Amino acid sequence: MPDAPKIPRHVAIIMDGNGRWANQRGLPRLRGHEEGAESVRAVIRACRDYGVRYLTLYAFSVENWVRPQSEIRGLMSLLRKFLAEREHELHENHVRLRVIGRMEDLPLPIQHSLKRVIKATAAYDQGELILALSYGGRAEITHAVQAIAREVKAGLLAPKAIDEQTIAAHLYAPDIPDPDLLIRTSGEMRISNFLLWQISYTELYITEVLWPDFREAELAKAIEAYGRRKRRFGDTKERDV
Ligand code: FPP
Repeated sequence: MPDAPKIPRHVAIIMDGNGRWANQRGLPRLRGHEEGAESVRAVIRACRDYGVRYLTLYAFSVENWVRPQSEIRGLMSLLRKFLAEREHELHENHVRLRVIGRMEDLPLPIQHSLKRVIKATAAYDQGELILALSYGGRAEITHAVQAIAREVKAGLLAPKAIDEQTIAAHLYAPDIPDPDLLIRTSGEMRISNFLLWQISYTELYITEVLWPDFREAELAKAIEAYGRRKRRFGDTKERDV
């Protein structure tokens, strides 16, 4: 019997290339984001079918706030539309919605919708969709360090007791396991401030395909590539005799 294909438990995605996809077609950037939202929908479904338990999507970074107001408004309205149109699928599939990032930076109506859906899906246990919104890896670590410093100041924690677990426990979603597979579309060889702490041993898959063109078939290629990787976590498996 051939081995069952190895499925990553946690897939994280840097969804890049919406603007280029639109440019190549002489369309406004927002059309690229709209088509990207269709990829989001397709990839969420495909991950569910594969049995991927955690899917983290880098939907808006802390750095993205410098984009033109019209583009930011367009992205926020796509997010609102996504929540309105896809919430029922979270319920049908018992998938929990989470957000990592500075949710307080988002427009209030979006914060309210997100909080409502987060609460309504909090008890589901068939999978987790994690949206990184106004997210930055350095901001996340800074936030964790501030919380730890407060505990030290209050006498609850000794500096010498701080270890890697302490830091991991103060990140935005400490209960979520580190990603097994990080996908980046559109060929850029960068991490772009995404999950800096969590990706220490994550397998990277970078494809030239632009995010709006990344659908089920492309996800299948990424998962197949992951299945062929040998994860060693720093170990060579060779031992002194
Ligand atoms: C990067 O493309 C993409 C983003 C900054 C936003 C991602 C947003 C979506 C896929 C749509 C909405 C999301 C959800 C969750 C419904 P880019 O604009 O940087 O592309 P470029 O590098 O080609 O210019």
